[in-house]
Amino acid sequence: MSKITAAITAVGGYVPEYVLTNQILETLVETNDEWITTRTGIKERRILKEDGKGTSYLAINAAKDLLNKSGVDPKEIDLVIVATATPDMKAAATASYTATEIGAINAFAFDLEAACSSFLFGMSVAARYIESGKYKKVLLIGADKNSSMINYKDRATCIIFGDGAGAALFEPNLEGFGLQDELLRSDGNGREFLQATYGGSSYPITPEAIAEGKHYIFQEGKMVFKNAVFNMADITEKILVRNNITNDDIAWLVPHQANKRIIDATASRIDLDESKVMMNIERYGNTTSATLPLLLFDYEKQLKKGDKLIFAAFGGGFTWGSIYLTWAYNS
Ligand code: COA
Repeated sequence: MSKITAAITAVGGYVPEYVLTNQILETLVETNDEWITTRTGIKERRILKEDGKGTSYLAINAAKDLLNKSGVDPKEIDLVIVATATPDMKAAATASYTATEIGAINAFAFDLEAACSSFLFGMSVAARYIESGKYKKVLLIGADKNSSMINYKDRATCIIFGDGAGAALFEPNLEGFGLQDELLRSDGNGREFLQATYGGSSYPITPEAIAEGKHYIFQEGKMVFKNAVFNMADITEKILVRNNITNDDIAWLVPHQANKRIIDATASRIDLDESKVMMNIERYGNTTSATLPLLLFDYEKQLKKGDKLIFAAFGGGFTWGSIYLTWAYNS
């Protein structure tokens, strides 16, 4: 019997309507369009404004987009994973609610959190379930409502993050397409440089913490930048060497969208032409768990069966990694 590989067979995406431009940010903090554009590559981000709507709203819409386009019956889905750093609520999994709302009534569901590497690590998890032979349809959604933890008076973070969601369906493939190899890493020493300190179990939320804004995300941008550049480029190069892939063989680099300079450094390390680098940071900013699937959503029509894709991500924690996947279908 042929070996089962885990292939992506459909993608979907969703971003909220409200557009937060660099020009609007100029009215909120001391910054300017030129600084943001040259330092990050970001022009605008999408923000979910409506009260009472959380990450599940984004996830549900991305999943519905995938289901509508592919015609997949949600009752056939075995597992729904929501990769997110901003779950709707504590304790109750966002994935469970999402699965129910999209009609995946026969699925089990859980959240997966690894900051900006959540979707990448989720790809690994989704693939293992498929490769086991026991599960036939795993829906992996990367979704984040980053605006829920942003202080719009902190120019070091509010210029970077946006809200959005993307979804990918994993199914068994007997032709060898799909996930081929992965290198995934973490280093807990990095958590001091990027975190929302209060609101978790170490430091439950207090009125004092709120007054001091300690429930918002904080980052030491320079340290995060340095580590992201080194580790994302390094692990991407390693996965190419391990699989004997040259830059000519690569159809697309699918890099986490945190800062255009980090993406450029990764592409430059492997000497890859920018025409082969997926990029939408200009329009969405850093959507954390949603960047990778939103790239697939935006570029789906340009992807061809057999294309070699190299995914790379770096996130808080620190967490990072690279995945080599071959594309399984023509749109
Ligand atoms: N507008 C204008 N000036 C700003 C600014 C802003 N939004 N943010 C910072 N500055 C200023 C700083 O105060 C500093 O001024 P000084 O030299 O007078 O002290 C100067 O610009 C340089 O600041 P620095 O923090 O060194 O800038 P940077 O080149 O490192 O860029 C980030 C800042 C946040 C864009 C960059 O560090 C970054 O992208 N880091 C990684 C972020 C990331 O990937 N996070 C998610 C993890 S996946």
